[in-house]
Amino acid sequence: MTAPLKHSDAVTVEVALGTRAYDIIIGRDVLASLGARIADLRPGARTAIVTDRNVAIHWLEKTEASLSAAGIASSRIVVAEGEGSKTYAGLEQVSEALIKARIERNDLVIALGGGVVGDLAGFAAAILRRGVDLVQVPTSLLAQVDSSVGGKTGINSPQGKNLLGAFHQPVLVIADTAVLDTLSPRQFRAGYAEVAKYGVLGDEAFFTWLENNHADIFKGGAAREHAIATSCRAKAAIVSRDERETGERALLNLGHTFGHALEAATGFSDRLFHGEGVAIGMVLAAQFSAQLGMISAPDAARVERHLAEAGLPTHLQDIAGFAQEGLADADALMTLMAQDKKVKHGKLAFILLEAIGRAVIAPNVEPSLVRDFLKEKLARKK
Ligand code: GLY
Repeated sequence: MTAPLKHSDAVTVEVALGTRAYDIIIGRDVLASLGARIADLRPGARTAIVTDRNVAIHWLEKTEASLSAAGIASSRIVVAEGEGSKTYAGLEQVSEALIKARIERNDLVIALGGGVVGDLAGFAAAILRRGVDLVQVPTSLLAQVDSSVGGKTGINSPQGKNLLGAFHQPVLVIADTAVLDTLSPRQFRAGYAEVAKYGVLGDEAFFTWLENNHADIFKGGAAREHAIATSCRAKAAIVSRDERETGERALLNLGHTFGHALEAATGFSDRLFHGEGVAIGMVLAAQFSAQLGMISAPDAARVERHLAEAGLPTHLQDIAGFAQEGLADADALMTLMAQDKKVKHGKLAFILLEAIGRAVIAPNVEPSLVRDFLKEKLARKK
């Protein structure tokens, strides 16, 4: 494993997608370079910044200042914060505002925000005039290590999460690690689940490094940048081999089949952030793998211990209002899982573990096995 980076270094990770390749720039204060980088990449382009009210308070002016210093015109579109904007109504608001701002084919949409803003602005960019270019400026840890990279964009349907969307790769990602200083500890922890995911699914040495360094990542500094760069490299490598998720990209869904069902059962509310659902989902995937004899019980316990040490929920019972109808009911959770995109011909696709650092796609999991496993987990005190 490479040595952690010096604090001041900006790191560039390339997502190698041929003519659609792009760079992820990671480092403290790299947001200030946004305008100059866009001027280089798309001379003469105009921009519209899509952000949410909360991010706007902290980072909109700095973003606009960087653009205007490079002579780039920008307009702003501010949506309400939270999953509630990732809807038909949110898409209409952003699309109409982009049309009003006269964003044309050779202009750029800049998504300044977390996963919700990135997915929403990215989808609007994908369909505006049949596609305009997108720059992702992720402001949450989750968005920096996952949702801003790889081109998945979309909105939720009342019937399920991310059921409408498009693959639309950005032309540039600017991940300023200083921006993460304004996140709440809970939001930062939720994003950390996606960092740990890269270790669990494909890199045991990184997982061990995280076990030893997670406190420094939370404090900021070089460990944080190293964790983000390593996560982005892992994702970039997978996306460049399987952009459209016909194969190995599905490994990135580790913890998500359970996690999405839990998010749906809690109404996509603040009771459970996405990353928290992924943390519980990863522990369930590890325990389910152990029950199927694929990994040892101590390995499953190691995944759980690390996420718990990082302050993440790891049990179904950790979810606020756990006893409420729908959440503590294995059949209701099975119904929610059946609506997930990972279902084919009635069989559930799960990402399971053969070892820490070696995840596999299990495309044909018998639903009754999952139901029995969940029933047993739900019956436990913890
Ligand atoms: N978040 C999983 C993926 O981008 O494929």
